[in-house]
Parts: sequence; C-alpha cells; structure tokens
Amino acid sequence: MTNQLSSTCAIPDVAPIPRHIAIIMDGNGRWAKQRFMPRIVGHQRGVESLRSVVKACRDLGVSYLTVFAFSSENWRRPNDEVSFLMSLFLKMLNREIASLHKNNIRLKIIGERSRFDEKLQQAMWHAEQLTAKNTGLTLTIAANYGGRWDVMQAVHTLLKDHPALATTFTEADLQPYLSMSEAPEPDLFIRTGGEMRISNFMMWQLAYTELYFSDILWPAFDRDALSLAIASYQNRERRFGRTSEQLRHPAV
Ligand code: IPE
Ligand code: IPE
Ligand code: MG
Repeated sequence: MTNQLSSTCAIPDVAPIPRHIAIIMDGNGRWAKQRFMPRIVGHQRGVESLRSVVKACRDLGVSYLTVFAFSSENWRRPNDEVSFLMSLFLKMLNREIASLHKNNIRLKIIGERSRFDEKLQQAMWHAEQLTAKNTGLTLTIAANYGGRWDVMQAVHTLLKDHPALATTFTEADLQPYLSMSEAPEPDLFIRTGGEMRISNFMMWQLAYTELYFSDILWPAFDRDALSLAIASYQNRERRFGRTSEQLRHPAV
C-alpha cells in the first residue's frame, strides 16, 4: 500500500483532474499594499480566496487540497503581523468549521503545533476530531510547517519506534512517519504571487509534482484562475522517468 503513495517506488495513476493539489497562497501583503491598505487586510481577503478554492476543488472532485498558511520561517515577520495571523487562524477555525463539516470536508493540520498558544491548539484538535470521519475533500492546512522539519521529525520518530533500523531504513519505512503519509503525492503544485520557489513547502512530496506559478496575488485568485492552472496541468506529459515513446506504447 505504501508504494502506491510514492512516485519513486511505483508509477502513480494519472487522472485529468488532479487527485491532490498543493498551494502556496502567496501575495497577500502585496495585494493590500497595492490598495494602500495594511498587509493584514490582504490576509483577511486571502481567507475568502481559500473558501472559494475549497468549494471549487470539492465541485471538481479533487480528493486532497493542501495549503501553506504559515511557514516555520514566517515567525521571522514583525510581531504584530504574526499575532494577527494567529488570531485570524483561530477566528477562521471557529467560524468555518461547521460549514466544512456540513460539506463533508475533512480538515487536517500539519506542522509543529507546540509553538501555538493553548487555545489555538485546542481549536485545531477540535476541528480535526469533528471532521475526522468525513469522506469528501481532505483539506490540509500547513501551519508552522516546513518541509525540512517534516523529514527530520519523521526520521526521529521512526528511529524512536525502530532503533534497529538506524542504518537500514528505506523510503518505505519512513513514509508512514511523514506528515502527509495518508495522501497521494500532489499532482499539481500552485504558487500564486509571482515568486518561483518552494519556500520549504512539502519538499519530499513534490518530487514528481507538476509545478505551476501564477502572477496573480492570492486574494485575487479565484475559480477561473484555478481552472487555468488545471488546464495547464492537463497539458503536461507526466513521464516519471520514462520516455514519451514508452507512454504511447506501454510495452516498449
Ligand atoms: C502569504 O502572503 C501569506 C503568508 C505568508 C502568511 P504574504 O504575506 O507572504 O504576502 P507578500 O508575499 O508579502 O505579498
Ligand atoms: C511562503 O510564503 C509561506 C506561505 C505562503 C505560508 P512566504 O511569503 O513566506 O515565502 P518567501 O519568504 O517569499 O519565500
Ligand atoms: Mg510572501
């Protein structure tokens, strides 16, 4: 079963609608600045974009949507922006959870949680518990998440559970300990806001993901922009190391 989830252990199934979309929601601050408003207004408007992208993914039949909300490096921002983001996160969890649940959406949060205050940790736990059995879209929010942190915590926990594997563990042994172990690797990665970098997001899982960069700032990203990204994805040839000829004639 594990191999089904790893593009380097087996060749994944490819479908016209991505099963898993990962998004770096970037450009909130610049969106606000362009309108002579404080950066935090951009973060507020960004929540609305997320709401419409979640709905669009649900309607399109995407199974997993994973979004980067706060990176392990975002603590480097000014204190007032960080505390605004924390209170927005708490408000959003409390306000949106009933509607996510009603829509059969399963909410998951990945990242190092111990740095968040108690109230926020409890709201995260409650939201996950409430929606744990839902069978529709799985929405994963990455908060205080870093791709390197993820690999490191997976290695530490694996070695704690199986010290004898220290020099022999394989990719398949590590897989169950990674934050996204239950999901297939992303088919499509979208970064808004014009930057062309990964910024420490899901580095392990993006090994064979199709990358799509949009200049649109996140608060302006909508259903149509998502459709353009998916259309671009549908034109890609996903070879996973093979040749084009092999794709056309699988026996070659
Ligand atoms: C992304 O928007 C949201 C977070 C990182 C929390 P930014 O806040 O990075 O916006 P820009 O990139 O400065 O415009
Ligand atoms: C990446 O955006 C993190 C999130 C969107 C949460 P940043 O705005 O923090 O990335 P850099 O600093 O431009 O690479
Ligand atoms: Mg940014």
